[in-house]
Amino acid sequence: MAHSRIKHILQAGQPDDPVTIQGWVRTQRQAKRFSFVEVNDGSSMAGLQVVVDGTLPDYEAKIKRLSTGASVEVSGTLVESPGKGQRVELKASDFQVVGESDAETYPLQKKRHSFEFLRTIGHLRARTNTLGAVMRVRHACAMAIHQFFQSRDFLWIHTPILTASDAEGAGEMFTVTRFGLDQLPLDPAGKVDYGQDFFGKPAYLTVSGQLEAEIMALAFTNVYTFGPTFRAENSNTSRHLAEFWMVEPEMAFCNLEGNMDLAEAFLKFVFGQVMEQCADDIVFFNQRIDSSVLATATNIIDSEFERLSYTDAIALLEKADRSFDFPVSWGLDLQSEHERYLAEDYFKKPVIVTDYPAEIKAFYMRQNDGEPDDRKTVAAMDVLAPKVGEIIGGSQREERLDVLEARIEAAGLPKEDYWWYLDLRRYGTVPHAGFGLGFERLVQFITGMTNIRDVIPFPRTPDNVEF
Ligand code: 4AD
Ligand code: MG
Repeated sequence: MAHSRIKHILQAGQPDDPVTIQGWVRTQRQAKRFSFVEVNDGSSMAGLQVVVDGTLPDYEAKIKRLSTGASVEVSGTLVESPGKGQRVELKASDFQVVGESDAETYPLQKKRHSFEFLRTIGHLRARTNTLGAVMRVRHACAMAIHQFFQSRDFLWIHTPILTASDAEGAGEMFTVTRFGLDQLPLDPAGKVDYGQDFFGKPAYLTVSGQLEAEIMALAFTNVYTFGPTFRAENSNTSRHLAEFWMVEPEMAFCNLEGNMDLAEAFLKFVFGQVMEQCADDIVFFNQRIDSSVLATATNIIDSEFERLSYTDAIALLEKADRSFDFPVSWGLDLQSEHERYLAEDYFKKPVIVTDYPAEIKAFYMRQNDGEPDDRKTVAAMDVLAPKVGEIIGGSQREERLDVLEARIEAAGLPKEDYWWYLDLRRYGTVPHAGFGLGFERLVQFITGMTNIRDVIPFPRTPDNVEF
């Protein structure tokens, strides 16, 4: 057998199979004439136990002194394992130390480290059980997302990271500059002239690919984006990143109800896939991180999401049998504590809140028709998850040219910047809708991890741009 990944050996390896593995030492135990070395290559939570006989070359000089973190390549044959918890182990016939690791200074010790500490060693934390499990689940989520949209004939489109328009109209964009720090152009008053930054024009990092996704949906009907987005909001919370990944489906000929149906089917599918593909990792999260992880997953897959209007949600919150830190009243945005109360305490499952006041939502959301009261609201939807709060934000889009122009003006946005967006309402406009899923919030939701910094390989927050 050529080089094998440990996951496959643990699943399917048989006694007498010849194998070669490569990986990093997790633990090392010495017996009299041999030692046990646990090697992990990141393919699964469990490593493979290697039995190294004291007669092997280099045993005294190298192998016996091996310590956690060293990289090794081992060949041998599988034997039945007398130990508990594993079917097979590897009896080494050749054991190469590829890179040593100094036990005195290696920051990862056998004990449990706090996540705060692990964030200070971003270059090594991927070798821990928890971060390993997170990254495998993250990968499985990403693949499941593509699979879901592919099976429904959605076209995956790539939207730009550099952009001139503020897709959310919330003024949370990072400015891009082509100049070195000491070469920033100054205006006559001596202030940095950001207007010059992108070859004479201003440019920003995108906050959402939605507006471009709308362009593509009006040609390909059903599309989705999956890429990095940036928010220059200075919020140091366990749910916010300055750089996060977003999944944004956009559908032509679709209304808010179709949008909600898609969001619900989407979350159910992704949870189902991850439960299947990362069963061991999920059991680990349930045991070590949050004992409701498995129950939550079953709940998502089996129960219908609750759907209610913002107006009804406010009425429920006003009657709640507990007090909140932030005020509740019609017209105010829901805070995380309100979202969690609805999903976690009241309904005990994901909740889709719809029809928010226009005042607190983005300019592109479709104004509701009908009674004068309805016209104060827009066809928005937020999916709220227990523990996490808002995981998805979406809406039906305003497809009527005159209404959209009025909203852009009322929001104080520069209409000329959106000329192409308005053009889409001039030429073959259709009702259309879509949503954005915060990818890291999904991974948080599935794993039960409490801090968003621990579900992305290299978190970008106001306090960290290094690792
Ligand atoms: O609600 P948001 O701002 O919606 C949009 O950007 C729309 N353009 C999406 C669309 O309709 N195509 O963001 C969508 C989701 C949120 O529900 C949340 O899960 C996540 O993105 N999100 C963040 N995740 C991590 N860190 C941040 N700073 C986030 N801001 C939003
Ligand atoms: Mg939102």
